[in-house]
Amino acid sequence: MGKTLHACFDLPSRQSPLLFLAPMAGYTNAPMRRLCHQHGAALTYTEMTSDLGLLHTSDKTWHLLETFDDEGPVIAHLYGSDPASLAEAAARVEQSGRFVGIDLNAGCPVHKITANGAGAALIHDPRRIHAILSAMRRAIRLPLTLKTRLGPSPDRVAIFETLDAAEQAGADALTLHGRFTSQGHGGPVHLDLLAEVKRRATLPVIGNGGVASPYDAWRMFHETGVDAIMIARAALGNPWIFEDTLAAFASGAEPPAPAFAGARPRRDLTVIRDTFEAHIAAEIALFERIQARSGLPVDAAQLEETLATTFRCHLFRYLHGLKGSSYVRGRLHELNTLDAIHAAVAGCLEREAAYRAAALPRGVRI
Ligand SMILES: Cc1cc2nc3c(=O)[nH]c(=O)nc-3n(C[C@H](O)[C@H](O)[C@H](O)COP(=O)(O)O)c2cc1C
Repeated sequence: MGKTLHACFDLPSRQSPLLFLAPMAGYTNAPMRRLCHQHGAALTYTEMTSDLGLLHTSDKTWHLLETFDDEGPVIAHLYGSDPASLAEAAARVEQSGRFVGIDLNAGCPVHKITANGAGAALIHDPRRIHAILSAMRRAIRLPLTLKTRLGPSPDRVAIFETLDAAEQAGADALTLHGRFTSQGHGGPVHLDLLAEVKRRATLPVIGNGGVASPYDAWRMFHETGVDAIMIARAALGNPWIFEDTLAAFASGAEPPAPAFAGARPRRDLTVIRDTFEAHIAAEIALFERIQARSGLPVDAAQLEETLATTFRCHLFRYLHGLKGSSYVRGRLHELNTLDAIHAAVAGCLEREAAYRAAALPRGVRI
């Protein structure tokens, strides 16, 4: 058995279970990672980053790997298909000194990625996974991990060959999204296969897929024995999922199943507003830092519009389940300035506050 995840990434030993924030393209930049770290994520992942973009010194690609000093341990998440270029890119990322590990994507089902032989295309070819990880292993000293799926489709389970390839190449951990490529991000998560992989693996296994509540995390942890749980979509607009889950496990009792899929605990509206504001402020700080480094003249209006565009996708996640959130969601395309975003949030929170004050039962309109 190799090192534990705690030892591998020098994580706080008191956290149990270990909860990680998954890589999500377009979302898991430094502001989101720091927020999730502050709320209990032990480890976070960058957005998916192209090896070739890094090697061609594309500013846009390197910006994906911007970090904040106080955001906790982060893994750089790379994609590509060629062993030599992935190894070279990994070495350059290691030299940046910002990351505690490097992860290879072998699960992204998006056509643009698989068409070039990267992401989920690698699942068809365990020998290539072995070649890539071996080359990366030789190129870096940092811990090396792989994020993958069960196989292309339920009739083609490939994970056991992938696991062998990862172990033989010297990977330090495996993240398994318990779905097949054919499932995209929906459908059942196969906890039975996740458990089987965990039983067979000699390296730590991080379980991922379908964890939307402390109850789901409890089930995954107890039914599979995974070494850590990775959360993706449930953390969008909801960094509290990490502390809620840790609190539930600390109590020692199985958490109740949510009343319906996607249900979240009722949260103080001031907490939602303050967290949202902190997130926006961090996005602005990151944006200004990148602009300053590029030395490009900044048109204030354009800057604001770009920020508003990138932040819109977080906005309705924060308002999830609140009164008026579907109205905001329907108008997202109109929210082109930060003022418009603030006004939309304020309106939604006021409506929810009035609803709560009236203490009307759910489903009754006010
Ligand atoms: C918007 C979005 C972007 C994602 N980007 C990546 C990515 O860049 N790399 C990756 O390995 N997985 C990516 N994923 C998949 C997640 O990391 C995760 O495996 C999947 O969503 C299942 O976890 P969940 O059920 O907790 O959401 C992405 C998922 C979403 C929803």
